[in-house]
Amino acid sequence: MFRSTNGRVVENQTKIDTINTRFKSALEANDMEGIKQIIIDLEIVCPISGTKNWTDVRQFNLMFSTEMGSVSEDSSKIYLRPETAQGIFVNFLNVQKTGRMRIPFGIAQIGKAFRNEIVARQFIFRMREFEQMEMQFFVRPGTEMEWYETWKAKRMQWHKALGLGEGKQRFHDHLKLAHYANAAADIEFEFPFGFKELEGIHSRTDFDLKSHEEFSGKKLRYFDPELNESYIPYVVETSIGLDRMFLAILSSAYNEEKLEDGSTRDVLNIPAFLAPVKVAVMPLTKKDGLPEKAREIIDILKYEHIYQYDEKDAIGKRYRRQDAIGTPFCITVDHQTLEDNTVTIRERDTMTQERVAIADLQRIVNAKVSINEVLKSL
Ligand code: GAP
Repeated sequence: MFRSTNGRVVENQTKIDTINTRFKSALEANDMEGIKQIIIDLEIVCPISGTKNWTDVRQFNLMFSTEMGSVSEDSSKIYLRPETAQGIFVNFLNVQKTGRMRIPFGIAQIGKAFRNEIVARQFIFRMREFEQMEMQFFVRPGTEMEWYETWKAKRMQWHKALGLGEGKQRFHDHLKLAHYANAAADIEFEFPFGFKELEGIHSRTDFDLKSHEEFSGKKLRYFDPELNESYIPYVVETSIGLDRMFLAILSSAYNEEKLEDGSTRDVLNIPAFLAPVKVAVMPLTKKDGLPEKAREIIDILKYEHIYQYDEKDAIGKRYRRQDAIGTPFCITVDHQTLEDNTVTIRERDTMTQERVAIADLQRIVNAKVSINEVLKSL
């Protein structure tokens, strides 16, 4: 009500819409002068130097080129891939036929991508060589917008299930669409340096398969037994940078926590199923048979979990070492263990300790560190 009735808000929104429309058509027409004119008209100031003295707007090379061929006269210019997606497209029919897949279905892949980024900064946020995790989801033409909305919702649900904090993710719908897309949105994450793109969800139409068909002369069509016809499927893509995801998790999981006694502890509140070390086993002392008993416990857990054994320093110091690397559980073996086969198990986030039977350890650790619980919650 406020947005639609307040004079100033309405006026500002009209201004924003006009600028966005102008910007969108300049971008789509590759009108570099038009873009510069918008910058001049809006009197945009460089946030760092304060200058309005801009250079012309230029198109940058976004791909790395190299040469393939044994002798230089015969060599041809090739490009390092700027996305992993094309490998999936050219293999679409192989996977569909050998896997006997029916549409709708997806193919997911992880791999390196290379971009000639103008500014590669902010640690591993933007690099020239990075790792992408992409999925191409093949659908019937005409159903792509429905699937686009489904995947937007599903991916957001996944990010929220990681428990990295309330309000850390948001959508950003694209104003300017890539040449292959008819809809696109980012999932942005609140990094320590602000909200930035973490994942892209794109409705890529049939552009890629159609282009591969055209230039290879090889048909990339799917025979739909329900419709009794062949067509080029439409594609909805989810695309996320592994390095960026890693940075999102690491930066939000690392905490310097103030404790009740006034001290602080460094703790990595990383989702338990992603923790590099799942469990640490510690004998209270180095003698009286406690190390041997601890080794027996390791023998039970080692086939399923990455563990650390630590007998050095006071127990409190050992707990802190595990907190700092995000180990969800510390198991302490003491003299009582030798009598009744029980141990204390300490949980990283709450620091609560519980006395449990060794026989129950496997079940307790599994329940917390398994990714299955997260998947079931989706
Ligand atoms: N196939 C579509 C595509 O590549 P994109 O939005 O350009 O879409 C997808 O890239 C994801 O790849 C981004 O959301 C980001 O997580 C990651 N990414 C892109 N450029 C990157 C770079 N220079 N360094 C690290 N990650 C990058």
